[in-house]
Amino acid sequence: MQISPLTPGLGAEINGVDIRRLDATAINTLHRSLLDYKVIFLREQDINLDELQQFSRHFGELTQLPYIKPLEGYPNIIRVLKEAHEVNMGVFGGDWHSDFSFLEAPPRASILYAEQVPAVGGDTLWIDMAQAYRALPREQQTLLQGKTAIHSGAPYGVTHAPEDSSRFKGSIQIERNNPQADRETRHPAICRHPDSGELLLFVNPTYTIRIDGLAPAHSDTLLASLYQHCTRPEFSCRFKWTPGSVAVWDNRSTLHYAVNDYDGKRRCLYRTTIAGAAPRPA
Ligand SMILES: [Fe+2]
Repeated sequence: MQISPLTPGLGAEINGVDIRRLDATAINTLHRSLLDYKVIFLREQDINLDELQQFSRHFGELTQLPYIKPLEGYPNIIRVLKEAHEVNMGVFGGDWHSDFSFLEAPPRASILYAEQVPAVGGDTLWIDMAQAYRALPREQQTLLQGKTAIHSGAPYGVTHAPEDSSRFKGSIQIERNNPQADRETRHPAICRHPDSGELLLFVNPTYTIRIDGLAPAHSDTLLASLYQHCTRPEFSCRFKWTPGSVAVWDNRSTLHYAVNDYDGKRRCLYRTTIAGAAPRPA
């Protein structure tokens, strides 16, 4: 296996591995790399959906998602699809977020497998929320210590839609008015990663709606300044998909963003999600 970091801090491509045939050493290396680089990429994997599930189980127990209709016969797989004719609309995951942060126990990891992607466009970006936390001014770190952030699934993962997002009719099958998504959940704004021990900023512009205990205007200003800070290019990496690419990311310590710049082209990926635990306070 050859590990090539994408940036000094975040993201690594791992070559020389067939994810259908992994021995204990290879699995250990993948786990270690995921902890070290937070998102890992494997290219040119020729797998079917059963093999995607099998590979995903190396990272933990697969979980079902609360408001997206899974693939028929595969309750733990969703299709992340935008057809070529779906133009001028929002896209699932089209703003910074960690997957399903509004759940009591957000996923520990997510996995995407690219079946068909545009020759150019449709990249995904990640940011490292541990690095973002460490680079925060001391007074903001102090202000956030012990604070609780409120998350809600109400945007259903679709942002920047030109019309009212409730009229979103994209290919991804979103079931709205889902009580599990619509309710509010409380998580520490600063968490400790259960495996690495790193401190993490755990807020995101898609699902975090306010910081508890602050006046609404203060909460809005603080969150806006945190988002401006954590989305600095220094904390990010960007991946250009090719057919057969697989990405595995740590969903506790990163945010990601699906770039919606490929109108007129079909993009089809398959996604599995690994169950997690309630975030631990710092
Ligand atoms: Fe996502």
